[in-house]
Amino acid sequence: MPDIRTLSAEEARAAIPALSEVLADCVAGGASVGFMQPYAPEDAESYWHDVADAVAAGGNLLLVAELGGSIVGTVQVGAAQMPNQPHRGDLKKLLVHRSARGRGLARLLMDAAEREARKRGKTLLVLDTATGSDAEAIYPRLGWERVGVIPDYALWPQGGFCDTTLFYKRLA
Ligand SMILES: CC(C)(COP(=O)(O)OP(=O)(O)OC[C@H]1O[C@@H](n2cnc3c(N)ncnc32)[C@H](O)[C@@H]1OP(=O)(O)O)[C@@H](O)C(=O)NCCC(=O)NCCS
Repeated sequence: MPDIRTLSAEEARAAIPALSEVLADCVAGGASVGFMQPYAPEDAESYWHDVADAVAAGGNLLLVAELGGSIVGTVQVGAAQMPNQPHRGDLKKLLVHRSARGRGLARLLMDAAEREARKRGKTLLVLDTATGSDAEAIYPRLGWERVGVIPDYALWPQGGFCDTTLFYKRLA
């Protein structure tokens, strides 16, 4: 059975090697999630240190999915920074290692992230994802509303422009 957990800053720091493996695997698999190929797990460590710092500062929710005690997936909710958006969160970095896909982990992570965000007073979440990616097909199945497409927003990890699709979800 998968286990979904929200990590403290200390737990996040301890999880950096495993989180780095997951992120590097997703980039190697062609996911447009902020980084370019080649991208080794060691390259990902500074990113996860920053995430752990943001968790410590209270600005980031970090969730992980574990199978057999190993972290194989993750997602974050970042708090919107401006004082006029206390109710909004940014859903970020939904990542499932290729070896663990298709078992419902993304759905479990998203359900838990939305529940935890709601507990912290968030009533609206937004995200963007690479147009044409597996992830783009998944969000509508999880109740997210598609807003539209911004062309040439980022690069695919192997190079070449990639459009992004914006989504939002109101939390009941
Ligand atoms: C997107 C990603 C997180 C999905 O993870 P996953 O654990 O395999 O997804 P799940 O098994 O929970 O599937 C969730 C739903 O999407 C559907 N789904 C899964 N893969 C799909 C695909 N390639 N195309 C269409 N639907 C898909 C599933 O059938 C399921 O729907 P259901 O619950 O209604 O049956 C994973 O492919 C990934 O990490 N991709 C690379 C990173 C990335 O692009 N992240 C998005 C950043 S915004």
